[in-house]
Amino acid sequence: MLQNRRLLDVLNGQSVDRPPVWLMRQAGRYLPEYNATRAKAGSFMALCKNAELATEVVLQPLERFPLDAAILFSDILTVPDAMGLGLDFQQGEGPVFARPLQDEVAVKALAVPDMSSLRYVFDAVSTMRKALAGRVPLIGFSGSPFTLACYMVQGRSEEGFPQLRQMMYRRPDLLEHIISVNTEAVVQYLTEQVKAGAQALMLFDTWGGLLSAHDYQRWSLEPMRQIIARLPKEHEGERIPVILFTKGGGTWLKSMAASGVQGIGLDWTVDVSWAREQVGESLCLQGNLDPQLLFGSHQAIDEAVDRLAKAVRGTQHIINLGHGIQPGTPIEAVAHFVKQIQEKTMGSVAKVNERTKVRSRSAAVL
Ligand code: CP3
Repeated sequence: MLQNRRLLDVLNGQSVDRPPVWLMRQAGRYLPEYNATRAKAGSFMALCKNAELATEVVLQPLERFPLDAAILFSDILTVPDAMGLGLDFQQGEGPVFARPLQDEVAVKALAVPDMSSLRYVFDAVSTMRKALAGRVPLIGFSGSPFTLACYMVQGRSEEGFPQLRQMMYRRPDLLEHIISVNTEAVVQYLTEQVKAGAQALMLFDTWGGLLSAHDYQRWSLEPMRQIIARLPKEHEGERIPVILFTKGGGTWLKSMAASGVQGIGLDWTVDVSWAREQVGESLCLQGNLDPQLLFGSHQAIDEAVDRLAKAVRGTQHIINLGHGIQPGTPIEAVAHFVKQIQEKTMGSVAKVNERTKVRSRSAAVL
């Protein structure tokens, strides 16, 4: 039995006492206990592959803050790693692939990996779900086909991912193949996460915002739309909602809202009230404070909290940052933020749902 249903309810358009709160990268390097567990595991990937230790880090932020959701501890790049690209996380450098897709032979050899090679992720999901024991729902996730392709072609994080964008114009046939393999792999990967116990799903499209409006539709949103259409709609009697997050995608919210998702993640560049006008009333939004805000004074945090609380009042919203929490973020600021936003938004969604109920009742009368 799920004791805290706020996240699932708000994604399903149901009434809640206040908006749920969780933080992207809530399990991570700003927590000393995370750093200790990672050291015990030996490396970040070793931590991802150890279900017991990965579960330990999922629970760490929940022990410190009254968060309303947990997220699978893993990484989006597990999928290209399983495709044989050779993932390594180098200290201070981020992810590096030993065999990036830089010629036709490599691209043509790319295939959907056997999901048994990602068994460690699904084992982690079921171990985490068991350990959560219904405290809060567990979010599963994947990278978007386009964002995965950025790393697979470039081989590492690089400003603007120029090699990927050059391939898009020089050899669209090769990119087409990569995206279609990724699309199939993501469908299978997320379906297995649901079977293992993930109760909501999030698609991280971190680099979709690099694209032109036209290219975004073709190379990023369309494959995500196909994925959403093919994912299991429910599991064991519970609906499995999907949140789509394109960082830098603020100008395309209308088309994202038409993709079949239940939730849309906003980065901090977008005005929440404006975003609400774009997507209409029936969809859930998520976000969107600047992660750097948490390095600010309590006064700065309180002002941002007040603005956000006001903007989300009466709407379906999941409180979050506009991107992952940064290493070095003061833990005390996170605690202050979570407490303030929960106090300031208490009662704000239920009231609106009353309004919606009244409206639908009068619609029924008509
Ligand atoms: O939110 C959570 O608590 C769940 C865990 C999670 C991680 N990665 C753990 C992680 C999630 C949801 C991700 C997704 C992910 N991974 C994305 C999409 C979201 C985003 O941030 O835009 C991307 C682009 C990646 C790829 C990735 N992983 C990069 C570029 C890096 C290096 C940059 C960095 O932040 O260090 C990682 C490493 C990574 N993934 C860490 C964690 C906790 C830090 C590794 C460490 O502990 O040394």
